[in-house]
Amino acid sequence: MDLFNNIETTEKVKAKPFIKWAGGKTQLLPVFQKYYPNELKLGIVENYFEPFMGGASVFFDIVQKFEIKNSFLLDSNFEIVLIYTVIQQRVEDLIFELSKLKKQYLKLGEKEREAFFYNLRDKYNKNKQTISNSIEDTWIKRASHTIFLNKTCFNGLYRLNKAGDFNVPFGRYTNPSIFDEANLINVSRVLQNAEIVHGDFEILNEKVNDKTFVYFDPPYRPISETSLFNAYSKEGFNDNEQVRLAETFRKLNQKGAKLMLSNSDPKNINKADNFFDDLYKGFNIERIEATRMINSNSEKRGKIKELLITNYEYVK
Ligand SMILES: C[S@@+](CC[C@H](N)C(=O)[O-])C[C@H]1O[C@@H](n2cnc3c(N)ncnc32)[C@H](O)[C@@H]1O
Repeated sequence: MDLFNNIETTEKVKAKPFIKWAGGKTQLLPVFQKYYPNELKLGIVENYFEPFMGGASVFFDIVQKFEIKNSFLLDSNFEIVLIYTVIQQRVEDLIFELSKLKKQYLKLGEKEREAFFYNLRDKYNKNKQTISNSIEDTWIKRASHTIFLNKTCFNGLYRLNKAGDFNVPFGRYTNPSIFDEANLINVSRVLQNAEIVHGDFEILNEKVNDKTFVYFDPPYRPISETSLFNAYSKEGFNDNEQVRLAETFRKLNQKGAKLMLSNSDPKNINKADNFFDDLYKGFNIERIEATRMINSNSEKRGKIKELLITNYEYVK
């Protein structure tokens, strides 16, 4: 595709996450890199799977560092799957829609921007039922709206209420970035060898083999009662889901795949909480340092531990 040989795109500039997603792992990449399996560095791993893709920061890191033949990206959130599919297949059309929105929005004063945001949010929520299951023109507008709302809402969140409506309020930014054209083109380039699927992580059972590396980044187990970290979808992700995931982890381990999983460490709050230590007994469990909000009420950031679980040994 000519598009990929343009201006400052292609190999020289790295594709990076284009959407702000709760639980994004960009800050943890330097630590994660120490724990990637050796088979990845040796070129033995051919397939990279990320079943909770969200902002997909680990995907961008891995596919641009190592020789990956196929990647498989999955999420149960339909809107995020729709965006990646549109970027993979119709990036130019998406850029066109985003440019129109950006132009309209940036010329408005603050009060008008706020009205524009809420008007778009209302339409966005009303239209969600009419979206089909395969790529078509309506997807391109929809993807541009999700990206726009994500970049102009308060704190750059993607959060749905119980009715499945996007309910994050307006964010006051003087000059919101909204999108970066060169990056979107680069993202499209690295997505060319990816299969992008909407569904549940158990689909992996049919797909994984011994040349596969899987990174799991499930919604965090809330580290306090009030924590809203797993409100990506209206369904949520409770302890039964964490148990179901651990069962999948064990099945994929039997298939010889290399597996890495991260989660919040319940011991940050309660030293006696062995939930994950019990669930992943027999695997390597590291506690690494992370900086993130302890809970949604106190905006305080502090050093807390994050769990990193692997089914392989590593040389740090
Ligand atoms: C912690 S986020 C992933 C963040 C991502 N790694 C990043 O760096 O931005 C968890 C993701 O899991 C998705 N999810 C929740 N339940 C799921 C399920 N049962 N199967 C697949 N994905 C699921 C959510 O929609 C959300 O995007």
